[in-house]
Amino acid sequence: MKKLIAGNWKMFGHGGEAMGFIEEVRTKLGGAAPKADLLICPPATLVERFVRYVKELPIAIGGQDCHVKPNGAFTGDIAANMLSEIGATYCIVGHSERREYHKEDHATVKAKAQAAIDAGLIPVICIGETLHERADGKTLDVLKAAIKGSLPDSDKIVVAYEPVWAIGSGMTPSREEIAEAHHALRRMTVPGVRLLYGGSVKPQNAKEILSIPDVDGALVGGASLKAADFLAIVEAC
Ligand code: G3H
Repeated sequence: MKKLIAGNWKMFGHGGEAMGFIEEVRTKLGGAAPKADLLICPPATLVERFVRYVKELPIAIGGQDCHVKPNGAFTGDIAANMLSEIGATYCIVGHSERREYHKEDHATVKAKAQAAIDAGLIPVICIGETLHERADGKTLDVLKAAIKGSLPDSDKIVVAYEPVWAIGSGMTPSREEIAEAHHALRRMTVPGVRLLYGGSVKPQNAKEILSIPDVDGALVGGASLKAADFLAIVEAC
């Protein structure tokens, strides 16, 4: 199976940047098939526009979060079926920024992942340890608890291992640490589930990270905002 390179734009980007990004990708690919499956998760306001812009390009578009319910009086929230209605096919759930700033726990993340599946979306479920937990030697226990608590019973999911301390910090775990985590995750998940690594993936370290066994792709934050960097990571597959 091809690797999956997913870009999480977080709360960055406006319409002009979306169009510029896609046009640059279109030009640089020049009709060639990319070396990986591609996914961009822009802010909710840009999902529909991205879907329109990508047209015949092989790029899937996803949301960054969804509500656990299909509708209701939840001001400011977005249901998974609203994302699928406008052409999204994936949805990130349980990103550490949602867990930290919106106090989302495993049960909520699991319910969101199930809501995404029910709406026909593939959830990208994020899990990962804090620096404290790693220093205390608890990484594998944290991952085990996250797999048990945050994953619905399905193989139509993607799991993103994102050490919280590696996100946006420029720091990454060693090759051995990523290999150990992904090897454990492979054993804890059902066959066919793609395991992405996320946390300061850049064009400079992508080849090394993507060559680690059981790393089926990457969830990229900052470096996904520039088409050239995003495509350089894809080329590293
Ligand atoms: O969702 C993406 C991750 O939070 C990684 O972000 O590549 O900016 O470290 P980053």
